[in-house]
Amino acid sequence: FCSKTNMEQKRYSSETSNVKCNEQSERAIYPLDALRQDISKVLSNISGIDHSLILNALESTNNMNKGDLILPLPKIDVADPVAVAKRWATELIACGSLGEVCARGPFLQFSFDQKYLLQSTVPSILLQKRKYGQERPRYQKKVVVEFSSPNIAKPFHAGHLRSTIIGGFLSNLYEAMGWSVTRINYLGDWGRQFGLLAVGFERYGNEKQLQKQPIQHLFEVYVKINKDLAKEENNGTSQSGIGGEARNFFKKLENGDEDATSTWNRFRSLSIHHYVQTYSRLNINFDIFSGESQVPKKSMDEALNIFYRNNFVEEKDGALVIDLTQWSKSLGKVVVRKSDGTTLYLTRDVGAAMERKKNLKFDEMVYVISSQQDLYMSQLFMILQKMNFEWAKDLKHVNFGMVQGMSTRKGNVVFLDTILDEARDKALQIMKNNKMKISQVNDPQRVADLIGISAIIIQDMKSKRINNYEFNWSRMLSFEGDTGPYLQYTHSRLRSLERSSSNFTTDMLVHADFSKLNEPPLVELVRLLAQYPDILRRAFKTQEPATIVTYLFKLCHQISSCYKKVWIAGKTSDIAIPRLAIYSASRQVLHNAMTLLGLIPVDRM
Ligand code: ARG
Repeated sequence: FCSKTNMEQKRYSSETSNVKCNEQSERAIYPLDALRQDISKVLSNISGIDHSLILNALESTNNMNKGDLILPLPKIDVADPVAVAKRWATELIACGSLGEVCARGPFLQFSFDQKYLLQSTVPSILLQKRKYGQERPRYQKKVVVEFSSPNIAKPFHAGHLRSTIIGGFLSNLYEAMGWSVTRINYLGDWGRQFGLLAVGFERYGNEKQLQKQPIQHLFEVYVKINKDLAKEENNGTSQSGIGGEARNFFKKLENGDEDATSTWNRFRSLSIHHYVQTYSRLNINFDIFSGESQVPKKSMDEALNIFYRNNFVEEKDGALVIDLTQWSKSLGKVVVRKSDGTTLYLTRDVGAAMERKKNLKFDEMVYVISSQQDLYMSQLFMILQKMNFEWAKDLKHVNFGMVQGMSTRKGNVVFLDTILDEARDKALQIMKNNKMKISQVNDPQRVADLIGISAIIIQDMKSKRINNYEFNWSRMLSFEGDTGPYLQYTHSRLRSLERSSSNFTTDMLVHADFSKLNEPPLVELVRLLAQYPDILRRAFKTQEPATIVTYLFKLCHQISSCYKKVWIAGKTSDIAIPRLAIYSASRQVLHNAMTLLGLIPVDRM
């Protein structure tokens, strides 16, 4: 049951009445916010129900056939919601941003007034540009996002890749929501295996190789020395030989020996230097390269002291153990210090968290780590909570599932660069099929890199984080269907449209007159654009990149169906300008969302 014509008549009379809507006194920055305000005002007027109650009960829709906003009446606790919905739908007055209202069972569905929608959405996108969709809260909060965190001298596996792109996205999202973000990379750079690496480097190390390809070279050295060690252990000589040397080196490292430390720092900083270059291909910059080796002994000692003081460590065969089952059965027991006095991954994480709280004073800290470490993270969080840190509640573990079957075409170990290179080469190969187009691209290598990266990122973010997925090169680099390259393609197509209509200035577009515009697909497109700020808020709540990816594909499908039917070429300016304004606003939203996900939109491809 809908009332539109009815409402149009009433709109006229309401303009002279004293029901004022859309005064924008509350911070109604985006069109959907204005619609929310207007609905709750007029509805509160006829029902007597508290304005803010209605405001909070309004939901955005994921299917535009259901209008732009929905009110489930059971949520505001009325008796006989079906009858009430029907009655309110007839009584409601179109007002400001509100155009149409329908009753569907116990739901009220509201739609924008078309004129309002076009007039308020399109120019504001064109003016706000990259800021469209972002939030500016009154108080800026601080978040620390820890992500990527590969292990030195070991391969950068799919788990690290997922952590990198999801963490990069989350950092951008927090920023868009007005937070100040510190991006931390917590390297796996500590442990006995690095004693082994140092011994290996003495045997197999090559200074030139180390400078050129530190990550790969250290890995190769590590593999070789591990083989030697295995042989030695078979012969039963591990105490005296490599094994012993490695233990010695690591002990020196733990005791802060200068030579050992400087060797180790060199491996570490060369690796970081190389990582920085690779991350920058992905448009990711870390504020801090921390790591297990960087946790001060002081903070771990303090942690152990608190364990003692709070009476929850016990000694077992010289080691220190916390029995977490006293708080939660499933958490088991954990060792926090070994019998030889060396610390562990977990203890370092406790110290690292304390250190970060002290230095960075975060309001929230997010760890982006695979679901394989779910139990581990619960243990860590429980310990911090039982240490009585009130900030333990501000820690979040954002997890994700596994990737099956990711390897290079040659089937060897994967390094991040190799993955990016393969994607780039494949993209370049496809680009070369269109000789005409590629001749217009300034830097085909660079563009191919960006397209390859989009393929990798979107493939990863298409479904919920927690899902496992099968890695598949050919599907990933298809230009057809819902892929990263398809998003890039849509963006570059809109860019080309803008280039070919550059006789219209931004000012003309911002002041476009939409009164003659009446193409339903274009209006639908603008309704989608108006949803974007809400999509960001939803993604922020769920911390799911898929929320944005799903939206983006909807947006791109709508753009292509407009493209087929609604033209600009050959039209007079009164028709061309409002159309172009909408296409241009769509490109902006596409650009904003792609950037948020970590893609760099291309202008030609
Ligand atoms: N380096 C670890 C790994 O590769 C991930 C580190 C996760 N972060 C942490 N604070 N524990 O598994």
